Amino acid sequence: MAVYEYHAGLEGVPATQSSISFVDGQKGLLEYRGIAIEHLASKSTFLETAYLLIWGELPNRQELQDFQQEIQGHRRLKYRVRDMMKCFPESGHPMDALQACAAALGLFYSRREISDPAYVHEAVVRLLAKVPTMVAAFQLMRNGNDPVQPRDDLSYAANFLYMLNEREPDPFLANIFDVCLTLHAEHTINASTFSAMVTASTLTDPYAVIASAVGTLAGPLHGGAAEEVVGMLETIGTVENVRPFVENCVANKKKIMGFGHRVYKVKDPRATILQNLAEQLFDRLGQDRYYDIAVELEKVVSEKMSYKGIYPNVDFYSGLVYRKLGIPTDLYTPVFAISRTAGWLAHWKEQLGENRIFRPTQIYTGLHGIDYVPMDDR
Ligand code: ACO
Repeated sequence: MAVYEYHAGLEGVPATQSSISFVDGQKGLLEYRGIAIEHLASKSTFLETAYLLIWGELPNRQELQDFQQEIQGHRRLKYRVRDMMKCFPESGHPMDALQACAAALGLFYSRREISDPAYVHEAVVRLLAKVPTMVAAFQLMRNGNDPVQPRDDLSYAANFLYMLNEREPDPFLANIFDVCLTLHAEHTINASTFSAMVTASTLTDPYAVIASAVGTLAGPLHGGAAEEVVGMLETIGTVENVRPFVENCVANKKKIMGFGHRVYKVKDPRATILQNLAEQLFDRLGQDRYYDIAVELEKVVSEKMSYKGIYPNVDFYSGLVYRKLGIPTDLYTPVFAISRTAGWLAHWKEQLGENRIFRPTQIYTGLHGIDYVPMDDR
């Protein structure tokens, strides 16, 4: 019998080969298609980065313009999708709404010639275009309002903020939001991307791939952490409470949200950029105590836990930025999904290029040869 070595959580087990992104967790390095995240955050836009991730190269001026126009042309939702959303409970989590909507797109666009490049292109455009509209529409509808139609004259980031708040955003804020989208667009084979790839490997449709990834991202150990971070900062309440809070977590082995990472053993480079964005926002829009609490928390956690390689991850400062941008707390993970749709689609496309269905093995820990006990004898 074959002997397998078991790694809980598949830690360190290569599950694929990929040329989309690279992380060096010891150096705090993240690259998309070989380009450092710092360069993309300062020089690129989200849509340009999405193109890079999905098609492997930066677009030239014309390619980017065409891509933007195609996305603009597919932003609207079918009225039947909106009607379906009207039946969702207002109290439901927006991630569940997004997952349902992403899956529902498969009902409307159900062609299955998965190997046709034109089909892949269309699905990429449609999903990148419609995911933000679905998130914004649910936010308005759960508050009893009609969804706002997308505006073709606005950038990807600005249009989302417009659809969410029903007013055109300050370009400075739209630019900060665009950088956030770039930072969250891709991160190698994390839980939601793996989930997308497993689903993709069955050659099902791309809407099922994205729905599956959205469901996986929703968990508090993954994309849901940003939401939890803000709740934690509210609970801590003051800078003075930070140290006793951390000491209590350490003593009781409680996880501190927004810290720790399977791969990074230093500060996540995205957290450094997000902290800088948070500072810019606080300078522009006024300080609040949450930023001071967060900085103190980072200081105390690194004092107490850096020996374990526990540092802020991407979710630690993103919540602070989103809060300052006026995004409701339970939309932080859907906003993450808007951005990560680019990475999921890149992996979907890559998976199709050299597909083999995922079918790992298991180490059986149960019994053998047990007799069936009739109901009356149990
Ligand atoms: N707070 C306190 N201790 C922590 C934390 C944390 N946030 N993260 C890890 N540790 C400790 C663990 O208690 C464990 O200690 P031990 O060895 O003494 O038992 C050790 O560090 C290793 O932790 P694991 O949970 O085994 O690490 P793993 O790689 O499995 O988990 C994870 C990584 C899930 C991100 C974890 O660090 C965590 O739960 N963090 C909090 C949630 C969070 O912020 N998630 C967002 C991650 S980024 C993203 O998904 C986009």
